[in-house]
Amino acid sequence: MFRVVSRMRNHGFFEYTRQILDNPGKTVELNMFGSRLILTQQPENIKAVMFTKFSDFGKGAITHKIFENVLGDSEQLRPYLAKIRSTDVPKTEVHIQRLFRHFRTPGEPVEVYDLIDRCQLDVVTDVFFGESVASLQQEEQPFREAMDTLLRINSQRVPFGRLALLFPDWLIAPHATKELARYMDSRVDKTLSLPRAKLLQKAENEITLMEALALLQPNKKYIKDQLISVLLAGKDPVAITITWAIYELSRHPEVFTRLQDEVRTRIGFDHPPSMEQLKELVLLKNAVKETLRLYHPLGLNVREAKADTFLPIGGGANGKEPVAVLKGQQVVYSVLGVQRDPKLHSETADEWVPSRWESWTPTSTEYIPFNVGPRICLGRVFGHLQMEYTLARILQEFERIEWCGAKEDMKIKIELNTKFDKPILCKFIPRVKVES
Ligand code: HEM
Repeated sequence: MFRVVSRMRNHGFFEYTRQILDNPGKTVELNMFGSRLILTQQPENIKAVMFTKFSDFGKGAITHKIFENVLGDSEQLRPYLAKIRSTDVPKTEVHIQRLFRHFRTPGEPVEVYDLIDRCQLDVVTDVFFGESVASLQQEEQPFREAMDTLLRINSQRVPFGRLALLFPDWLIAPHATKELARYMDSRVDKTLSLPRAKLLQKAENEITLMEALALLQPNKKYIKDQLISVLLAGKDPVAITITWAIYELSRHPEVFTRLQDEVRTRIGFDHPPSMEQLKELVLLKNAVKETLRLYHPLGLNVREAKADTFLPIGGGANGKEPVAVLKGQQVVYSVLGVQRDPKLHSETADEWVPSRWESWTPTSTEYIPFNVGPRICLGRVFGHLQMEYTLARILQEFERIEWCGAKEDMKIKIELNTKFDKPILCKFIPRVKVES
């Protein structure tokens, strides 16, 4: 426990898990204050937890906090998140324009994660709530600060075990909880006051998630819980991945130029890409996949056994025997460990090399950014759209990205998501536009 916490504090947690998982079965048993916990990086075991023995496992402590309400019993609404609406791209462009205004401000470098996170908050609230919080336009953003506070608190509570999760947010962060409730109440009240007939008339493409929820179950708490969960599940991983990609692009100008050439020849620089055009940007897609491989935003995932069960492999002296998991015990699996396996990538496993995707076609257990099986990420298509669109627009508008942050390499900091241990500071140099 001491080693786990100290490695987390030094941002060397991933390296630590890799060290202890370097055994024939790629699986270890840990004792956390008397609770048994299994940590694994064994593809067979991960497949069992995600897919073949899915019904034996429930959500673990970390994901429970994020996904506790996400569309649990509303099968009808799952397709809403899984698809793209024709309005998604134009809505995103509005917020990208605001983001670029910040990028173009001459002088000091910008704090990239702060701005990309605001941009995603604005996009997600626009698309799913029907009204953006427009945090890129206002200095003061109480709603965003409230969400950040609650996320920080929740992530700090995780290392100290599940007991701490029993404390309600309102006791620990009364101001943030009140602020979040105030904002959500006002939005949900507005939607609930609309006549049901009017909502029913809306075309499938026009209706927002908030309105669809109001039609399904006009209950304020239900709608608020669902929306917050979608916001947490959707905004953070996308914002984190885009930021890592910008960090790597600023350090690999040759990749930046290659991707920019692709955008120039396939789409040009005069108009933003359409959904169809985005599909043609193969090298850009590879860069996004490579970022998700190297810096997966969850890093580790957790499941809890719902009944006495077992993992197929990893036990015994040779690591080939099954491993018992008793009801209530946690299984933690390392997505980063699997995706950075040196056996698959030899000496480049820990490097950002988008061109590997030109010849590497991983199996469904070698690359698992969105999970597989019944709990596969519902927002993966929307997430890819956001990541690819934002990066394609940066490649259209900027000549290059200059790294202005720390000289030392960035380390992975484990919070509720995986983040950067130092600020991502860059300058975006605008492309000089030639008049035709
Ligand atoms: C880089 C982007 C993203 C990554 C890497 C990612 C990853 C994941 C993963 C690994 C899970 C499974 C969690 C678990 O079962 O323990 C998940 C679930 C989920 N994700 Fe994503 N996600 C991304 C973007 C999004 C977006 C944009 C949305 C919504 C707009 C979203 C909505 C969801 C929802 C609703 C679930 C829960 C599914 C369920 O419980 O059945 N995700 N995501």
